[in-house]
Amino acid sequence: MSMYSKSLALMQRGTEFLGCEYAVLCGAMSWVSERNLVSAISNAGGFGVIACGAMTPDLLYAEIAATRTMTDKPFGVNLITMHPQLMELIEVCGRHNVSHVVLAGGIPPKGSVEAIKAQGAKVLVFAPTLALAKKLLRSGADALVIEGSEAGGHIGPVATSVLAQEFLPALAEEFVVFVAGGIGTGDMIAGYLEMGASGVQLGTRFACANESIAHPDFKKAFFRANARDAVASVQLDARLPVIPVRALKNKGTAEFEQIQREVAQLLDQGSVDMGEAQLRIEHFWAGALRRAVIDGDVDNGSLMAGQIVGLVKEEEPVAQIMQGLMAGCEEALARR
Ligand SMILES: Cc1cc2nc3c(=O)[nH]c(=O)nc-3n(C[C@H](O)[C@H](O)[C@H](O)COP(=O)(O)O)c2cc1C
Repeated sequence: MSMYSKSLALMQRGTEFLGCEYAVLCGAMSWVSERNLVSAISNAGGFGVIACGAMTPDLLYAEIAATRTMTDKPFGVNLITMHPQLMELIEVCGRHNVSHVVLAGGIPPKGSVEAIKAQGAKVLVFAPTLALAKKLLRSGADALVIEGSEAGGHIGPVATSVLAQEFLPALAEEFVVFVAGGIGTGDMIAGYLEMGASGVQLGTRFACANESIAHPDFKKAFFRANARDAVASVQLDARLPVIPVRALKNKGTAEFEQIQREVAQLLDQGSVDMGEAQLRIEHFWAGALRRAVIDGDVDNGSLMAGQIVGLVKEEEPVAQIMQGLMAGCEEALARR
């Protein structure tokens, strides 16, 4: 019998679905979730996911190939639905026989879920409402990730605890559902498993693992931060839509508010049109995550992080984090 028998019993549908030992996904993090972290997660018994982000099909092809040389365990690929070459990226996953594709960043466009399934892969989707989740799952998506506003990166407005109470009772019996956002300990994992989740997805907790290629200064910023430092960006003008991003407060996040005020003023004066104004807002963050993760520019770059960053205190090997989570989960279940 496994050391983690209670946890694994509750995770069974998740591990069968993912084909790994523990139903713990490391959610794709652009620039962070590349071959090193992804293979380390899968080698540690979890499920790593490559972040395609804005990669070209050729780059994605090479990243999958490189990851394969570092692990013989299954891993997934996360594609952003807005990517202009989404269908080509799906084809790249097909050429590599990728077993699981995660569609993120919006409602999957027509034909995308079908194309992935035609290649024999499983599709994981996100959904902002219960009605849409039901529709996606009934029309072919194989599993759902619910992600609350505690999470790092682009977020929705509702907390994980609320989503869990709304979605799990309605869906978890029939479908495979993973819970993400604000998870940092095994106790929390045990709670969501007991509520019916098939597994969990973590990002922030794994971002600073030894195996993560994130710049040492990016990691230091995480170790110093408290939960309250990971704030969601705010929209200052009704005419200029801002998709909220949760990141550590820095010079860049302050400047983003200033830019919004300036652009709104230009709009008032009539010196830019609406399209140009919205473009300036969108472009502000383009490349900002790369500047922080890769270049270590922690002042001007984007330090995307979830609120659970307050529990990330030091660099640890992925396997140690994973064993800690599983042991914590098992202890919590044993205490019940
Ligand atoms: C630095 C960073 C980058 C992220 N980039 C992406 C991404 O490219 N695509 C995506 O679907 N989710 C992205 N996420 C969200 C994670 O996949 C995951 O769902 C989230 O981190 C889970 O919540 P947690 O941060 O509270 O653990 C990102 C998160 C972080 C912290």
